Amino acid sequence: MNLPPVIAIDGPTASGKGTVASLVAEKLGFHYLDSGALYRLVALGSQKASIDPKNGPELGILATNLVISFKNGQILLNSEDVTEVIRTESIGLRASAIAVHPEVRQALVGVQHSFRTIPGLVADGRDMASVIFPDAVLKVFLTATAEARAERRYKQLIAKGISVKLADLLHDLQERDARDSSRGTAPLLVAEGAKVLETSELSIDQAVKTVLDWYQSKAA
Ligand code: DC
Repeated sequence: MNLPPVIAIDGPTASGKGTVASLVAEKLGFHYLDSGALYRLVALGSQKASIDPKNGPELGILATNLVISFKNGQILLNSEDVTEVIRTESIGLRASAIAVHPEVRQALVGVQHSFRTIPGLVADGRDMASVIFPDAVLKVFLTATAEARAERRYKQLIAKGISVKLADLLHDLQERDARDSSRGTAPLLVAEGAKVLETSELSIDQAVKTVLDWYQSKAA
């Protein structure tokens, strides 16, 4: 049986992979999976349930039982709209901490696979190409320097009226990079066969166009 095609886009935090992946999906009429949102949902759920971020087995049970839905750009957790709440820096850091546990990662495999429906899927995360969709037709590792990423995040937050220090953002981002890259299970890495896209000097449009061109040449 031929499974629908997948474009896997992995990369570090604030690399712009979410923006690029969702635009590529829109252009192709494909579905879009923001796998980081799933880890953020587990982080939020565990905070609400007061589960220690170090307790892998309990977090795994929580992740298995979470009632999650993605509808018209909204993300619901047990029927509550948490679209905005899961985007905070503190939930991002907690997501990175709970994501080290194999029990949590295993619990989220099925839901990620369920996004692969016709006509195709663009999936972004840390292990899309290496673990979840190793047969992806195109694998992209999208990155930028830590300074460029911190600056982008800084501008986004300031535009939202949230006051932050650039130095704090850079520090948090480096902490998350280090943990996401060094964990034993499914670390962030450039998967075999992945094309690296360095976006420090690229606009969003240029990055989207590059991915679309790569896909067209693979699909041809
Ligand atoms: O992409 P993001 O910043 O929303 O992801 C939040 C955290 O979730 C990230 O620091 C690590 C974890 N994550 C992961 O381990 N595997 C994925 N496929 C996606 C995210």
